[in-house]
Amino acid sequence: MVDEAAFRELMGAVCAPVTVVTTTTGEGRPHGTTVSSFASLSLRPPMVSFALDNGSALLQHVRESRRVGVNVLAHGQEAVAAAFAGQGEGKFTGVPWHEDDGLPRLAGAGGWLVGTVNWLVPGGDHVLVLVQVVASEVSEAAPLVYARRTFGTHSRFERRIELSS
Ligand SMILES: Cc1cc2nc3c(=O)[nH]c(=O)nc-3n(C[C@H](O)[C@H](O)[C@H](O)COP(=O)(O)O)c2cc1C
Repeated sequence: MVDEAAFRELMGAVCAPVTVVTTTTGEGRPHGTTVSSFASLSLRPPMVSFALDNGSALLQHVRESRRVGVNVLAHGQEAVAAAFAGQGEGKFTGVPWHEDDGLPRLAGAGGWLVGTVNWLVPGGDHVLVLVQVVASEVSEAAPLVYARRTFGTHSRFERRIELSS
């Protein structure tokens, strides 16, 4: 048997991107959740994937809306990541955002994409969400990364930030 704590520690040590995946609910409200399982999947057609916990409220909304926005967070947006890792209605309070293509887009993110959900694939206690990308934009901002419960950025970007400040 695989030791669950050891497996969790191992996967927690893998450096991951930090995104806030958003959708608009059936009632027209914005919903967003911090997601590190975001990954590139296909170039032709352009596709990405991420995994959502079976109990995630975002997953329930995505099952209905079939559309998502992905805000790829920039170094310095740790507080945004922490806010969207919470639960409930208040996650957008104090976070500047606007609607882009009918989806909630956060100010200051390093990247943004809009996608259509093509497949929801069950995977243990999560669901793998396969998304076809219909629009994408990126800025020069250093990326926010997460490992061992610690936010940071790629060390070479850290040096660039020091040099330019
Ligand atoms: C850095 C970080 C990465 C996370 N990545 C994921 C993820 O990939 N998938 C997921 O389901 N939850 C992930 N979470 C946990 C969710 O953000 C958290 O459970 C959230 O409360 C779910 O909100 P919801 O129920 O409104 O969807 C992550 C949390 C943090 C802090």
